[in-house]
Amino acid sequence: MARTFHTVGVVGLGTMGAGIAEVFARAGLSVIGVEVDAAALERGRDNLRRSTERAVARGRMTPGERDDILARVGFTGALADLRDADLVVEAIPEVMDYKRALFADLDRVCRPDAVLATNTSSLSVTAIAAFTSRPGQVVGMHFFNPAPVMRLVEVVGTVVTEDGLTADVAELARRVGKTPVTVGDRAGFVVNRLLLGYLNHAVTLLERGVAAKDDIDTAMKTGAGLPMGPFTLLDLIGLDVSHEICEVLFQETRDRVHAPAPLLRELVTAGLLGRKSGRGFHDHAGAPRPPAS
Ligand code: 3HC
Repeated sequence: MARTFHTVGVVGLGTMGAGIAEVFARAGLSVIGVEVDAAALERGRDNLRRSTERAVARGRMTPGERDDILARVGFTGALADLRDADLVVEAIPEVMDYKRALFADLDRVCRPDAVLATNTSSLSVTAIAAFTSRPGQVVGMHFFNPAPVMRLVEVVGTVVTEDGLTADVAELARRVGKTPVTVGDRAGFVVNRLLLGYLNHAVTLLERGVAAKDDIDTAMKTGAGLPMGPFTLLDLIGLDVSHEICEVLFQETRDRVHAPAPLLRELVTAGLLGRKSGRGFHDHAGAPRPPAS
């Protein structure tokens, strides 16, 4: 019988996690948002408030709908509050040791039949599943930034995923207004595997002096019909996140296209992380700050 999901936990309420919580709450599901401490929880609450406020300001949501959405999201610092969740989506930083600790804890506190999902962008879902006693009930549910806007969800099954589970999770994605694609557990899945090679290559072109960054952005926007040029998109994703994904892809593929461009590494080392830090390839100091990650 197909699984149905009513209550969803989201662990980690940074840029992606808060957006994911909003997606579920907009679709009428009850959401339990979890963060590590009071300050992070407050930032998560703020992320959600700002995003829904933006929708109200654009006339896409009434103040009443915003209030309903916010009322559907509970905030807590205690993982134990996930005991009744049907599904938990993890959206914490991409560090395997953090995932290991979290999934072992989730396995302990969640109902035995609950599904555990990771929003990892490039780490192995199979490895994450192995940290639990229920690897068959662990899947990838990969959203895209900004999560309330981008329609795709990559649903990642592994060799041990229970029959029918990826189909049920894909159905949930459809229910919350997304377009699911089912993909295998390979680093970067589909989108990041193709996209990060391109973005990294754009940095290489810049390093080689082929064109200025604004001209590369303009070229790809107006010549290839993309909504953003590569440097604007790198700033949106976060240079640290992009660098990390390239590292993981390079480890797996050994394809030079994924070997992080030295300039990308340099900017990350200098703390120029993109929109979230106010500066990356472009200056965002005067722009409205996106939700904190
Ligand atoms: N949070 C919430 N909503 C946002 C938002 C944000 N950060 N940024 C934009 N929006 C909403 C706006 O409110 C607006 O909504 P409306 O149409 O309902 O009024 C809509 O998005 C369009 O926004 P704008 O008019 O301000 O700007 P654009 O038309 O330029 O669209 C964009 C912004 C949707 C971000 C578009 O430029 C785009 O699609 N860019 C490419 C994004 C992309 O490729 N994302 C994937 C990155 S890869 C990834 O996430 C994987 C991960 O693992 C790294």
